[in-house]
Amino acid sequence: MRYDVLTIFPEMIQGYLKEGILARAAKRDLIKIEVTDIRAFARGAHKNTDDRPFGGGDGMVMKPGPIYRALESVPRVAPESLVLLLTPQGKRFDQAMAWELSRQKQLILLCGRYEGIDERIRKLCVDRELSIGDYVLSGGELAALVLMDAVSRLIPGVLGGEKSTQEDSFEDGLLEYPQYTRPRVFRGEEVPEVLLSGDHEKIRQWRRAQSLKRTLEKRPDLLHHARLTPQDEAMLKELKGKVDK
Ligand code: ADE
Repeated sequence: MRYDVLTIFPEMIQGYLKEGILARAAKRDLIKIEVTDIRAFARGAHKNTDDRPFGGGDGMVMKPGPIYRALESVPRVAPESLVLLLTPQGKRFDQAMAWELSRQKQLILLCGRYEGIDERIRKLCVDRELSIGDYVLSGGELAALVLMDAVSRLIPGVLGGEKSTQEDSFEDGLLEYPQYTRPRVFRGEEVPEVLLSGDHEKIRQWRRAQSLKRTLEKRPDLLHHARLTPQDEAMLKELKGKVDK
């Protein structure tokens, strides 16, 4: 996967990429992240990338020229390369979308700033608009990092053990079960007995029940789309009975 991030704050992106999973994946050539500074494509003595809005009003708008030229400078490695604009107006990014995007060869991420970008960039250059949640950030940079992180960990080989993404929260529409490591007793709190039993089937059942219980308690909305077996349904009925009492 090749990502191209277009921003007026390249160091915000580069700083995050120095450590962690994305840095390791880049070192192993599983992903490539190129950052393009939109300001380098601005003209005039001041290299302005923003200007006042036509029609008046507060704030500044990102000018179309520098963004357009920056986008033109990005080599397209596949005919289906997507230009994504990060904006609170976009479709909500979720795990299903992360899987879909993880199968692309190139994602070109355009980070907006100020009050927004000139509408003609949306019209001429943008394939999709994505939001990472219903709140307003000061720019698309954090959103681009969130997207690259969530997408990259789904690319084969990026995480050491392939199996771990399958067990993540959301992969079957449920939250993850509680995890414990040593010591067995911490500040008087003990690890649940079943996890020490060595009985793998019993452990699997306990974890599944815990996932269902957590999802019911914390994110009941997820249960509408979760992949549930008849045993899960029975367990949920039992748990709901306890909650109602
Ligand atoms: N830019 C500003 N807010 C954003 C959000 N919630 N998602 C994506 N990009 C943004």
